[in-house]
Amino acid sequence: MTQFKTILVTGGAGYIGSHCVVDLLEAGYDVVAIDNFANAVEDEEGSPALQRAEEITGKPITFYKADLLDKPQINDIFDKHNVDCVIHFAALKAVGESMQQPLLYYQNNLLGMLNLLEIMRSHNCYQMVFSSSCTVYGEPEHLPITETHPTGSITNVYGRTKYFIEEMLKDLSAADDKWNIISLRYFNPVGAHPSGLIGEDPTKEFTNLMPFMAQVALGKKPVLTVFGSDYNTPDGTGIRDYIHVMDLARGHVAALSLLSSSHIKLRVYNLGTGRGVSVKELVSVFERVTKTKIPLKYEARRLGDITAMWADATLAKNELGWTTRHSVEEMCTDFWRWQTMNPNGYPKKIKKSVIVINGKS
Ligand code: UFG
Repeated sequence: MTQFKTILVTGGAGYIGSHCVVDLLEAGYDVVAIDNFANAVEDEEGSPALQRAEEITGKPITFYKADLLDKPQINDIFDKHNVDCVIHFAALKAVGESMQQPLLYYQNNLLGMLNLLEIMRSHNCYQMVFSSSCTVYGEPEHLPITETHPTGSITNVYGRTKYFIEEMLKDLSAADDKWNIISLRYFNPVGAHPSGLIGEDPTKEFTNLMPFMAQVALGKKPVLTVFGSDYNTPDGTGIRDYIHVMDLARGHVAALSLLSSSHIKLRVYNLGTGRGVSVKELVSVFERVTKTKIPLKYEARRLGDITAMWADATLAKNELGWTTRHSVEEMCTDFWRWQTMNPNGYPKKIKKSVIVINGKS
């Protein structure tokens, strides 16, 4: 086993990707990032998130605007760089959209992954960290959720793409001993880099709790709708395992260390704090640390939502030597810093418009 040098990060301009890139650079890796800007902001020079990641770390990033469905383009990137390991974030991830456009999700997420694996194999690169989700567990049969909990009983197409990919990776690993893969099942990533320079700025309509709550706190949205107050939980609202995005990023660096030191074939780890937090609890922590008031409106449960989900992250602790460090307070403080420093997110690409006056431009 040799120490990895160059890491290819797919979806590197996105929310989790850009935070992970910061940690990779700080850990001394060379980063080649690719993104098709499906859900990340693009400007004249490429990705503002990655430019700011360079600013934070003082290190350069090689970036390509590229799409995993464009095989020759991805092949060229692998020809140019000696990639030691791939961290694969690139995927469509909106649950609602996935129900309306299943083919788009299957094509993008499954075909994108197939193309990537084939190109990796043809370039003799067999090391990968895959970005999976706790959504693969479906409605929990027991809590906290261990990695041995059954998977596959999922109610949305997005979640099924993650599950199908995990199954594909099992088959691949069984067929060819060369592969060395870690699948990381994220719980609910929130927060931002403590500098406030990078954070979550989705280009698509978003529905996740923390970004929505921050918009309400900023006055950009009038009220936060709490979906369901009749759940079988202490305060009646849904419970999730919120994890600081920088803890999540560090989990990837820990995964790289394990892959570079041992041939583990295929392993799966939960990345969560092990602590469940209700919607109401998160709102009250956010209000306290940001000194804002979030008006609430209670509505019926959101279709497909589960009652409660939190991780047992013991396996990641024992095998990756990884545990979370950041509190719920820090998740809220850091997200709020990003939001207040960048109320409109990253500077957006200005489309050149032609002004026509009296028929002359
Ligand atoms: N919620 C509200 N109001 C909102 C938004 C969310 O009350 O405006 C509640 C939800 O009902 C849920 C909790 O806040 O109880 C968290 O909701 P999010 O949308 O932030 O996160 P989810 O747990 O629904 O979804 C996340 C990821 C998905 C992934 C899923 C797996 O965003 O990509 O976890 O469980 F599929």
